[in-house]
Amino acid sequence: MKRIIGMILAAMLLSFPCYAAEEQAAQQVIVNDRSVGEQRDGLIPLRGTLEALGSVVYYLPRTNSILALTRDGDTIQHVLGSNAITKNGTTTEFSEHSENQNGTAMIPLSMVQHCYEIFLQQSEDGTLSIEKNMTSHPAHLVIRDVLQLSMEPYFLPTRFDRYRAYRTQHPDEAVKNCIIRVNIGLDTPFYTGIKETARPDSLQTLVNPYLRLPEQFEAKNLVWAAPETTVQDGKEYRMNREAYEAFVSMRQAAAAEGISLKMISAYRTQNYQQMLYQNYVLQNGLAYAAKYSARPGHSEHQTGLAVDVNSVENYFADTPAFTWMQRNAHRYGFILRYPLGKEWITGYAYEPWHYRYVGQGIATNIKEWDLTYEEYYVTYLQRSAYQINPEETRKNVMGLMEP
Ligand code: DAL
Ligand code: ZN
Repeated sequence: MKRIIGMILAAMLLSFPCYAAEEQAAQQVIVNDRSVGEQRDGLIPLRGTLEALGSVVYYLPRTNSILALTRDGDTIQHVLGSNAITKNGTTTEFSEHSENQNGTAMIPLSMVQHCYEIFLQQSEDGTLSIEKNMTSHPAHLVIRDVLQLSMEPYFLPTRFDRYRAYRTQHPDEAVKNCIIRVNIGLDTPFYTGIKETARPDSLQTLVNPYLRLPEQFEAKNLVWAAPETTVQDGKEYRMNREAYEAFVSMRQAAAAEGISLKMISAYRTQNYQQMLYQNYVLQNGLAYAAKYSARPGHSEHQTGLAVDVNSVENYFADTPAFTWMQRNAHRYGFILRYPLGKEWITGYAYEPWHYRYVGQGIATNIKEWDLTYEEYYVTYLQRSAYQINPEETRKNVMGLMEP
């Protein structure tokens, strides 16, 4: 009965917003026992309301829109000032629109009612109470666990669904790991969901089975390698200038300890990578090719930042040169890019000879923290365009976490 009266009152309120506003200029809005401000003309404070309902609210400056992740596992998007709201990809239009009132984004109560299962009650003094059960969703514990990390800089709110699905399938895995793996793409098979990599010319670019270079990408800042730095097999080698200078310094340091380092492969064009990949397929079959050769567009060698050292045979791992590289490569900005045991992350077989230039600071972190470049990149370098105020969110939303 209480619920029905509440609904009727809410309907009246929505039908006569101007009347309500004229009669009672400032009516409090209480959400789950917390005051979130005042309602005016059927509009209620957007962020305060959604946060008090347990949602995490992000802002995207490029489109002047918000994205909210709810305690029911829904994703809500809304362009500020518009009359439409999108819930889990489905857009609904309303007669009212949101607006900015003295610096506070105000949203029609009707939109909130459309997006959330809430209970409304209007008391005699005009106070509007909104209540929501935070634990009614069958998956509320998974949702809560994922939302606990929603303020972290590596959290991509548009992947909320995938984080939840992965976490559901891997209940014993740390939530952070679930998020990192989805960020890499590991919730789908290699070479699916392929996207063009961001900033392909950057020294920190990530190229892998999920991220490709633009079609016919040509690396910039390439220099020719001096013959003595290569295995001198009649080919001419090119590399990114900074990576090459680092390789030369590394070579000199190794030589001083009696170790010879020579490049046996460095920069490759897309056409050359295509030929290599096709040769692997023809000679060894698709499965073998997939393990040892990147498909054209997906090879780090196309960036000019990768170098194969001395020999592309597994015995290289048993040579003093490999041991030296294990100890020292990071000091010169190089990482072992396809480590043993990490094939399920990198997508490729162990390649003791393949090194990638990322710069000294990153290479040192990766070595010390024993990460693949995939893990490092999605955790520390890749950032969402959605903005969040972590302190406010922690205060407003995380306090509601425990049932
Ligand atoms: N062998 C590595 C994966 C490449 O082809 O780039
Ligand atoms: Zn290589």
